[in-house]
Amino acid sequence: MMDVLTKTAPADAAGLGEAARILQAGGLVAFPTETVYGLGADATNGQAVAAIFAAKGRPLFNPLIVHVEGLEQARRHVEFSPRAQALAEKFWPGPLTLVLPRRKDTPLSLLVSAGLDTVAMRAPSHPAAQALLKAVGRPVAGPSANISGQVTATTASHVADSLGGKVDFILDAGSATLGIESTVIGFDGDRPLLLRPGAVPREEIEDLIGPLGRPGSLIQSPGMMASHYAPRAALRLNAGEIESGEVLLGFGDAVGAKLNLSPGGDLREAAANLFAMLRALDKTATSIAVSPIPDTGIGEAINDRLRRAAAPR
Ligand code: TXA
Ligand code: MG
Repeated sequence: MMDVLTKTAPADAAGLGEAARILQAGGLVAFPTETVYGLGADATNGQAVAAIFAAKGRPLFNPLIVHVEGLEQARRHVEFSPRAQALAEKFWPGPLTLVLPRRKDTPLSLLVSAGLDTVAMRAPSHPAAQALLKAVGRPVAGPSANISGQVTATTASHVADSLGGKVDFILDAGSATLGIESTVIGFDGDRPLLLRPGAVPREEIEDLIGPLGRPGSLIQSPGMMASHYAPRAALRLNAGEIESGEVLLGFGDAVGAKLNLSPGGDLREAAANLFAMLRALDKTATSIAVSPIPDTGIGEAINDRLRRAAAPR
C-alpha cells in the first residue's frame, strides 16, 4: 500500500536542501510563505506543473502564481510597465502578486498561464521561501496548498490534512504570519485592476498608483469563483445573534463566541486567525455564524474570503 502520509521536515538547512532537490527533480513540495502555504513545483517543468493541478483537483483554466526571489528574476519572464515596476519596488518581497504580460522567450511552462498571455508573479518575503527559491535556482509555481475550493492552509499540519499523500514533501515553518493570500493586481492596458483583495490593503496600493478598477470579466480573474475557501459547515455572515444549532466565530466584543478572530478588534490579527479558526470550528460544527467585520484595510480581503466561503456550492 502507498504511504498516505507525506514527510514533513523543519525549514532548516537539511529540510531546505531536500525540498530543493525534490523540486529540481520535478516533485511537489508544500512550502511556507508569509501569506499562506504554497504547493510548489518547478515552473519550467510542464509535467511538474501539471501534477499541481492534479494534486489540488484544480480546474485547468485557473492559472498559477509563479514565485521568484525578486524583480530581477521576474524580468526574465514578464514585461514590467512603469506602474508595475513601482509596485514591485515598493512591495516586493512581500504579499503582492502582479499579473503581467508573458515574455515570448520565457522558459516557464505554458500551463502556469492556463492559456492566457499573462503570468502572475510574486516575490515572497518569508525567509524559508526566499532560501528555498535561492536553493532551487528556478521559478516555483505555487497555488495555495489546499484542495481546490476548500479552506486555505496556514500551517504545515493543515497542508498534511488537505494534501497528505498527494505531495512529496512538506517544509514546516510554523504558522504563516499574515494568514491570508496575497493581493493580486492585473492591468487592462494601463489601467490597474484589483483581481483579488489580499494582505496588502487596497489603500496602500492606491496611494502609490491611483484608483484600482474591478475586473470586468472572469477571463481577467479566472480564480475568483463564487464558491471558494469553503468549510463543510454552513456559514452565515454579519451575524448579530447566534441562532439555534450555530457556533459563533466572533470579532471584537462579540458575546458568546466559540472562537474570536480578534477580541481586541485588530483586523491583522483576524486575518491571521481566519482560516485556522474556520478549520477548527469545521471539525465539529454544522453551522457557523460570523460576526460583522469592518470592510477597511485587510478587512476587505477577510470579507471577500468569507463571502466566497458562504456562497452556494
Ligand atoms: O498568497 C498567495 O498568493 C498564495 C501563496 C502560496 O503565494 N498563493 C495563492 O495562489 O493564493 P492561488 O492559486 O490559490 O491563487 C492565485 C490567484 C487565483 O485567483 C488565480 O486565478 C490568480 O491568482 N491568477 C494566477 N495567474 C493569473 C493570471 N495569469 N491572470 C489572472 N489571474 C491569475
Ligand atoms: Mg487558493
